[in-house]
Amino acid sequence: MHATDRDLRSRAIELIRDVRAYLRYLAELGATHVEEGSASRDLLPEWRERAHSSSMTVGDEENAWERSTSPREAPEATVEGETPKEEELMAGKRRSVHSVERQPERAAEQPALFGDLPLPSTAPPIADRTLDDIRADIGECTRCKLHRSRTTIVFGEGDPRARIMFVGEGPGAEEDAQGRPFVGRAGQLLNRMIEAMGFRREEVYITNVVMCRPPSNRTPEPDEIATCEPFLFRKIRVIKPDVVVALGAIAAQSLLGTKAPIGQIRGRFFDAHGTKVLPTFHPAFLLRAPERKREAWEDLKKVRDYVLSRSRSEDATR
Ligand code: URA
Repeated sequence: MHATDRDLRSRAIELIRDVRAYLRYLAELGATHVEEGSASRDLLPEWRERAHSSSMTVGDEENAWERSTSPREAPEATVEGETPKEEELMAGKRRSVHSVERQPERAAEQPALFGDLPLPSTAPPIADRTLDDIRADIGECTRCKLHRSRTTIVFGEGDPRARIMFVGEGPGAEEDAQGRPFVGRAGQLLNRMIEAMGFRREEVYITNVVMCRPPSNRTPEPDEIATCEPFLFRKIRVIKPDVVVALGAIAAQSLLGTKAPIGQIRGRFFDAHGTKVLPTFHPAFLLRAPERKREAWEDLKKVRDYVLSRSRSEDATR
């Protein structure tokens, strides 16, 4: 195929992906149909706007979207790149055995992000080879008081070589009963968010800051977090995701060693634990405040785009 044809084809595929993700997201917002011309302009690559000289109608939904997105500095981790072919995208979602080695740890050298707490120590005391090593070390854990009321330790699940890791706060009742993370109502929303990004749940890794359910779903206490978070940091070291998505304040504060409110730090990439960490709203919060889903979707698009661009540049250097 001619290079230009290939380029057009891959851009068309990317457009289709974006439109499908957008439709999934609109469905998530409760839309039952889409007016002609109401597509979000930011989902349409520039070339399409150029190709179609007729201006697009921007619906009320679009305006609301634009209003709700305050101008922010570009995330440091955003990478520009060529548009991939669909098959490259599909291949790129799975971590290659030949994936590029990470840069040496930077987080440990950084000053505290918000001047409140130092970043947590990211050097694991033990050189884990696999997630099973970590699970074995945890055993039938009694290190903190949460063990008294738990049914199951919810270790986490997903692809051990995932490019994206989602970290929540701690198991709820359903998770405690099943021994799996995010299987309740918040989990169903998380599944839809993952799918809207173009991934399947099995392709990512999902875990929590604390692995035992706090009684009555209360917020985990500082000593419980301090006991459990080293295992989370070790999981990140083993999985080596491109991005860790911190779901909600507890996950963001644990991963970034800050007390900053989630509303202040969401939607930005931070360097921590040898990877990028992007905080966003917790799905349980989004169930209570659906009007904030738009912001969360903006955050998740950044994650998706970052992961795809990394996958492209890895393919290019292979
Ligand atoms: N909320 C969380 O933070 N984690 C879960 O696993 C489920 C709900």
